[in-house]
Order: sequence, then C-alpha cells, then structure tokens
Amino acid sequence: MQKEDEADDTICIDDHARKMQKEDEADDTICLDESFFVNRDYDLTTFTFGSHVLNLFCLRSASTDYDLTGQLVWPGAVLLNNYLSKNAEILDGNSVIELGSGVGITGILCSRFCREVVLTDHNEEVLEIMKKNIKLHLSSESSSPALTAEKLEWGNSVQISEILQKHPGGFDLVLGADICFQQSSIPLLFDTVEKLLRFQEGKCRFILAYVSRAKRMDTLVIDEAVQHGMQVNEVHGTRSTVANLEGVIFEITLN
Ligand SMILES: C[S@@+](CC[C@H](N)C(=O)[O-])C[C@H]1O[C@@H](n2cnc3c(N)ncnc32)[C@H](O)[C@@H]1O
Repeated sequence: MQKEDEADDTICIDDHARKMQKEDEADDTICLDESFFVNRDYDLTTFTFGSHVLNLFCLRSASTDYDLTGQLVWPGAVLLNNYLSKNAEILDGNSVIELGSGVGITGILCSRFCREVVLTDHNEEVLEIMKKNIKLHLSSESSSPALTAEKLEWGNSVQISEILQKHPGGFDLVLGADICFQQSSIPLLFDTVEKLLRFQEGKCRFILAYVSRAKRMDTLVIDEAVQHGMQVNEVHGTRSTVANLEGVIFEITLN
C-alpha cells in the first residue's frame, strides 16, 4: 500500500516538473516573427523634381530578405518623376492609378496635378509607409485631390474589381516606375494593366518607367505587352542613364 502511495506521489511530482519545464521553455523561446527582421528606420528625405520638392519617409538602402523593395525610392521613380514634372500636361485634371507604388513618390507628385490618384502595392509593410507618406503630404498641402492607397497584387482580379467599383469611371492613366524586375510577375502585371486599359476602352494609357537590368527582361516586357494586345512606344528623348543603368519611358496602349 505504502509503495503504491509513493508511486502516485512520484507521478504527481513528474507531471508538475514537466509542466514547469514546459513553462520555462516557453519563457526562453524568442518568437522571431517577420516583424523582427523588418527595418522601419525610415528617414524623412527631400526629393526635387524640376520645381517640385517632395518630402517623404523612405529607407536609404535595402536590408532585409523579405520582398520589401518598395521601402526605397528606385531609379525608375526618379526617371518617371522628372519626366512627369516636365510634362505635367499629361496629368492635368486626370485620374491616375499607380502600380507597385512603394513609398508613393510618383503618385504623390501626380496628386499635385491630378483630379484623383490611387497608389497601390501588394506588400502590407510597404502599404503602411505609403499611407504614412500620403498623410504627411495631405497635411502639408493647402489643397489636395483624392489621394488614396489600395492593396493590389498583380493578377488579383477581385482586388482590381473592388478598386474599379470604387472608381466606376476608371482611370485616364496607369503608371508604373521600376516595377519590372521579377520575371514571374510580368504576365500578371500585364493582365492587370490590360484589365485597367480595357475598362476605359481606348482612353487609358500605361506609362511605364522601365529600367534595364537584364536583356531577358527587356524582351519579356515587350513580348508580354504584345501578347496582351498592346503596342509599346518609346517616348522620344527619354532614354537616359539613371543610377548607372539605362532607363526609358514607354507609353503602352491597346491596339
Ligand atoms: C522596385 S520597387 C519600385 C517602387 C517604386 N515604384 C519606385 O520606383 O520607387 C517595386 C514595387 O512593386 C511592388 N510589387 C512587386 N511585385 C508586386 C506584385 N506582384 N503585385 C503588386 N505589387 C508588386 C513592390 O512591393 C514594390 O513596392
């Protein structure tokens, strides 16, 4: 009898010890979720395009493994913003949607000329800093048009439909700066562009600031546009060197 009692006690002590050990292990475990690796040390940075000065938060260099390219301002955005600031009549009173907006530098510049601007991106972290920059911009401008951020992953037809439901008149211009850098995303990018252009049948054009980093991508972009029933025209005089790379502005329309 005494032995059985001792055995019962022993089991109780073992269970308790195991429970304690588990609790200790839980306390020792450091949860490294993705936020641990995300660099959010954004600098308030001043950019000048012609006579236009923009202040916005961005990183100065990429520092993570995640798809956070949008935390930086890319050479394509500098090329497109310089082009748009010199040719602002393209934007005057128009409605614009930008794809892969990153921190929002192009869409925010456009909002100085346009009737409405929708900035989009697929990355939640990037959308957060983009929204912060929109807020900063709206607080510093005396009059600003509708300037909003939307989540849009290229190829996601539900997200495109939701955006178009909110903007039943469609858009006059689709903009993209430095968004052709991953081969697998190019067909999806052009699916999205085609949907936006067809919605406005004939009236809408896609202005793409393309920065050449690989010959394969140079041909893929043109091929995909053609396969989606579009024609690509290089805007005369825009081929130039940006950050030691060759950049160009393409104007892309439905055939
Ligand atoms: C190289 S950055 C360019 C950002 C900005 N346009 C610029 O020039 O500074 C590419 C942007 O496209 C976004 N992007 C990449 N793949 C995407 C996809 N499949 N759908 C939507 N956005 C995407 C990224 O999150 C990022 O913001």
